[in-house]
Amino acid sequence: MTAVLPPVDLRRIVKLAEFEGLARAAMEPPAYDYVAGGAWDELSIAEAEAAWRRRRLRPRVLVDVDRIDPSTTMAGSRASLPIGIAPMAACGLAHPEAETAVARAAAVAGIPFALSTMSSHSIEDVAAAAPDGVRWFQLYAQRDPSRSRGFVERAEAAGCTAILVTVDLPVLGYRERDIRNGFDLSVPLGNFGDIGPDHGSHRGSADSGYDIVAGEIARGLVWDDVGAIRSWTRLPVFLKGILTAEDARLAVDHGVQGIVVSNHGARQLDRTVAPADALEEVVGAVAGRLEVWADGGVRRGLDVLTALALGARGVLVGRPILYALATAGEAGVARALDILHQETITAMALLGSPTVADVTRAHVAG
Ligand code: FNR
Ligand code: LAC
Repeated sequence: MTAVLPPVDLRRIVKLAEFEGLARAAMEPPAYDYVAGGAWDELSIAEAEAAWRRRRLRPRVLVDVDRIDPSTTMAGSRASLPIGIAPMAACGLAHPEAETAVARAAAVAGIPFALSTMSSHSIEDVAAAAPDGVRWFQLYAQRDPSRSRGFVERAEAAGCTAILVTVDLPVLGYRERDIRNGFDLSVPLGNFGDIGPDHGSHRGSADSGYDIVAGEIARGLVWDDVGAIRSWTRLPVFLKGILTAEDARLAVDHGVQGIVVSNHGARQLDRTVAPADALEEVVGAVAGRLEVWADGGVRRGLDVLTALALGARGVLVGRPILYALATAGEAGVARALDILHQETITAMALLGSPTVADVTRAHVAG
């Protein structure tokens, strides 16, 4: 007997959390574990969500909320909500259309999509699938700087409008699920055609995505390298994976346009401070000198508004988008983004903030 999953009635899904169980049923168990999992004891996964949920809102009343406008800009790119889709490796694990489906749904919804260096589909294929959508490129700096530069130049040529340099993955976190499952990302990676895992006749120098992390990603990347990366492109450069005021100040000193307060979805170092808790410290340290975003555990419009009140210009959403992709491909992602839209505009009205600029520190207690 073949297990055929019943089609999902997407209209009956009312919150992002509901996609996880559906994705789990649809995905191969080791692939689901790779997406869902974190590092070590995975304490920081639950804490990331809890840290948003712990905050309490201070709504204002008798504000005209007849018209709600949740749009903004992030890294200078237009965004219909203060939300972008976080870069995630190998979306093909969730659905054969992978990043092309996510990018299409994001473009229709007016939500920026960040493409991972380790994507299943190439920079150029994703651009062709969603030419009008706002697309950003996430860079894993390579041991060979000319390879990094090549990625950045390809991204710019393909119409990406920002470069997010991920700075919290010199090595992979201690991921117990993957070790137990023997999972090492042996899947096609669209941007590594020359060396990466491919299952055709030609084998490159890396058999798996984890070989690429171990062999190609620069462990020696330091602050002094940031200037070189900036010099390769006219696009805004963001550093993704900052959790302290000290590093935020260094980011200002090194002239980047923004930072993402993030612990990489708790997949790298476990037991970090939660991004929601680190956010205010970082916002205070940069004092408006660059743009601050946050990610990790953002699941509801209420989390988005909490982040804005704490000083973020926007947030990134990760796993729920992959779960929605696994559930129903592009339509699933479209439904997830629609839910975020509904939740966010409803919360803005009830908070008494008709535009994102109206959300202030006073809208969250503590
Ligand atoms: C990631 N993340 C990530 N980040 C990055 O900079 N480059 C990458 O290639 C990946 N790959 C990746 C794969 C998968 C399966 C996940 C779940 C995450 C981290 C991602 O961008 C983001 O920081 C977190 O996922 C945000 O947390 P939530 O929303 O998943 O809780
Ligand atoms: C991950 C990488 C590849 O978190 O960013 O799995």
